[in-house]
Amino acid sequence: ARLVVLVSGSGTNLQALLDAIADDPDGFGAEVVAVGADRGDIAGLERAERAGLPTFVCRVKDFASREEWDAALTEATAAYEPDLVVSAGFMKIVGKEFLARFGGRTVNTHPALLPSFPGAHGVRDALAYGSKVTGCTVHFVDDGVDTGPIIAQGVVEVRDTDDEDALHERIKEVERSLLVEVVGRLARHGYRIEGRKVHVGE
Ligand code: GRF
Repeated sequence: ARLVVLVSGSGTNLQALLDAIADDPDGFGAEVVAVGADRGDIAGLERAERAGLPTFVCRVKDFASREEWDAALTEATAAYEPDLVVSAGFMKIVGKEFLARFGGRTVNTHPALLPSFPGAHGVRDALAYGSKVTGCTVHFVDDGVDTGPIIAQGVVEVRDTDDEDALHERIKEVERSLLVEVVGRLARHGYRIEGRKVHVGE
């Protein structure tokens, strides 16, 4: 399967995918064909370039409207003919055009146990709420914010000594292996989405 990965930051989830594929290029069942971002100066793009991958950047501020940005992101992604789009720390909400084209085959990873703590500050919100466990969720993207059908989740305990960064780093350890496992399974075994249920490989 052809993957386009979308990033907005350090790209450690992207790196986990690249490393897993490099470890088993024939068995993993997918290859990253391009990496897209909403910003230019991020480590995620450097990781892609180090891996010799094509990259593209679609900055919201470069477009007259959000719709035009969404159309540009859709077009840039479609150019690589992905079977699956992986939003790995991509911090923008994709729009109607993107979903029309890639809905049902775009997965996102979120650093909280959805439906708890959706949005851009899931780690901070769980910590502030006093949750004793939190974690990460890999789900299909729908037209809401972190509301699509859940594929897999991983649990991470919250420690009294945690601040946002420490907790997020511990979540990311679980998140990276969960994302690799899910993307590999979807790519190798196929899947069906029925309402909120995701059937993999049946
Ligand atoms: C991940 O925890 C992701 O869930 C969140 O931001 C982090 C991105 O990390 N949205 P990286 O860019 O993959 O290192």
